[in-house]
Amino acid sequence: MGTEALIEFDQVEAGYGNLTILHKASFQVREGLITLLTGANGAGKSTAMKTLFGLIRPGSGDIRLRGKSIVGRTPRDMLELGMAYVPQDRSLFPSLSVYHNLELGGIMLPRKQLRPRIEEVLERFPRLRERVQSQASTLSGGERKQLEIARALLLRPEILLVDEPSIGLSPKIVGEVFELLGRLAADGKTILVVEQNVRSALKVAHHAYGMELGRIVLDLPAESILDNPEFNRLLLGGHVAEAA
Ligand SMILES: Nc1ncnc2c1ncn2[C@@H]1O[C@H](COP(=O)(O)OP(=O)(O)O)[C@@H](O)[C@H]1O
Ligand SMILES: [Mg+2]
Repeated sequence: MGTEALIEFDQVEAGYGNLTILHKASFQVREGLITLLTGANGAGKSTAMKTLFGLIRPGSGDIRLRGKSIVGRTPRDMLELGMAYVPQDRSLFPSLSVYHNLELGGIMLPRKQLRPRIEEVLERFPRLRERVQSQASTLSGGERKQLEIARALLLRPEILLVDEPSIGLSPKIVGEVFELLGRLAADGKTILVVEQNVRSALKVAHHAYGMELGRIVLDLPAESILDNPEFNRLLLGGHVAEAA
């Protein structure tokens, strides 16, 4: 496990049509660590993640993976390059079973690899194994989040992008989700997580960036973030970071 920058997001401008959201945003994701990207609603965090995963093409700037530009790559290319993405919005098929949702995550795998790979992923998620035949719509919020993450792990990604995993979950379950991310990082995965629930995320994150109006305005080791007055201002006038 090294600490070199696996991903370099370099002076990226990107947005939707003529609307520029990211203004020369730069950040780095180091190998084997958990990097937190935080900031108020509408700051551009999800836009940055989508741009990294190839869903939005930057207007200018560069994005490098292991030093090589990945600008113009599609999400499918990114999956092949070892990156997986758990979007902020619900991405499961609610009327399909847990197993079937997992199968769809492995659609790029050769048929005969699919079943053992699903088994491998279920090893990590005993609760999902118990409910493997249940319809996804019957899962609790925490179980759904587990399924979304489990599905992203099917292709054995090296890098996991996770957008706001705590939304809609109770504090206890949020803690469990971050513990899971911590274990994945301990197993060697590199993780970029977007999260406004900073206190929970900081239990596992190593480095944090603060985003405001499409710009990176803070770049700090995770342990120093809660003491940073600028950071408290960034998150809704301090309420988020101060809330227990
Ligand atoms: N599909 C879209 N089309 C146009 N504007 C969008 C779209 N998605 C997000 N935006 C706008 O981009 C800005 C940043 O959004 P987003 O990246 O989702 O912020 P965050 O994830 O930090 O809350 C917001 O002003 C939002 O309204
Ligand atoms: Mg978002």
